[in-house]
Amino acid sequence: MRLFFAAWPPARTAVALHAWAGGLEGRAVARENIHLTLAFLGEADPAKAIAAAKRVRGVRHELPLEETRFWKKNQIVWAGPREMPRELVRLVRSLHLALCHAEFILERRPFAVHVTLLRKAREPREMPPLPRVAWPVREFVLVGSRLSSRGSTYEPLERFPLSE
Ligand code: 2AM
Repeated sequence: MRLFFAAWPPARTAVALHAWAGGLEGRAVARENIHLTLAFLGEADPAKAIAAAKRVRGVRHELPLEETRFWKKNQIVWAGPREMPRELVRLVRSLHLALCHAEFILERRPFAVHVTLLRKAREPREMPPLPRVAWPVREFVLVGSRLSSRGSTYEPLERFPLSE
């Protein structure tokens, strides 16, 4: 099973983002699969990942989604904040550090906050305006991903609450 750490949106936010993506050409990410990846581990030992994440310190914050982009290289449309919230920068840094100490090998490319909303997307002629959505980040989650012919199935394995 492939593992990654992520933040999950409230159901209402996922519904609104999924509906937005439905107006574009491509394969909209299933409502329940919409998330923000914080670290991708690939095939790894969940117990080791959990032990590392327990050392991570982070505080609750909001994730504003203000921008949408098309990435030609991997043909995705994604949403993200105009500027990365300070608390999220710290959280990701703390998580990556804990994972490195536990000898996980992370991707070398810099972390880019992006919430993938469409895969196999055609470049939109114009991006429709994103709905205003709230995304309170109160915890992060270790997720297991299984690939099947119908796409990815995500299973939350452990939740890590953030402090006030
Ligand atoms: P993506 O949305 O840009 O594809 C589960 O696969 C999550 O981990 C996805 O959000 C995916 O980002 C992210 N991810 C980051 N690096 C990955 C990699 N090398 N392989 C697969 N998924 C990766």
